Amino acid sequence: MNKERKLIVAGNWKMNKTVAEALDLVRGLKLELANVKEVDVVVCPPFTALEAVGKAVLDSNIRLGAQNMSEHNVGAHTGEIAAVMLKEFSVRYVILGHSERRQDQKEADALIARKAAAVHGAALKPIICVGETLAERQAGEMQKVLETQVRGSLAGLTGEQMEESIIAYEPVWAIGTGQTATTAQAQEAHAFIRGLLVKMFNETVARRVRIQYGGSVKPSNARELMSQPDVDGALVGGASLEARSFADIIKNSI
Ligand code: PGA
Repeated sequence: MNKERKLIVAGNWKMNKTVAEALDLVRGLKLELANVKEVDVVVCPPFTALEAVGKAVLDSNIRLGAQNMSEHNVGAHTGEIAAVMLKEFSVRYVILGHSERRQDQKEADALIARKAAAVHGAALKPIICVGETLAERQAGEMQKVLETQVRGSLAGLTGEQMEESIIAYEPVWAIGTGQTATTAQAQEAHAFIRGLLVKMFNETVARRVRIQYGGSVKPSNARELMSQPDVDGALVGGASLEARSFADIIKNSI
């Protein structure tokens, strides 16, 4: 597929996989994806499997991501994980503001923006998630919600940092439901987000930022979604838990 930006496909394993299961999966992925150079491939295991998976992917084209990170560098923050700890395991990417954390942990845009600053401070790359709920979409508020989340979650980033960041558009109603956004719906939201980046930064920055689509991505719909001009990859949940389906998503996008 001929794209303006290099595609980036990330697997968000969420709260799945023991260390043994994670190693099984990543060994399968290494075999399936050994020759893939056209797409940036990232896997995001739970914290407890980062060390093992990090070692397993060292000699491969697969990069490691974490699913969250503290805004703080060190200290009295029980249960939190700092950037320096992630870097020990060769982590390169950090998912921030996933809708499950926005919902379950009440993460707000301002906190996500502080975390994004910390991620850049450690020379890691954030994957910053935004997306509207079904009720918001039905109320005609998609653009308003996306604008609030994009402006709030990216607040304070420099243009250079923005270019090194990835945005994931994940309509909440499409996550884990099997109900994928249509290609037209995805393209419309992605183009809207890129338009916001033009206003917040400039044309050059906006043209360089990669925007992933997330929400029930599977091998059968991956190619069509990623063929849209403003869809630059995918953030994959359920279908990233098996080597074959995650690898097929990537292969189908080439
Ligand atoms: P899903 O999850 O692919 O299972 O819909 C996507 C995500 O939450 O990142």
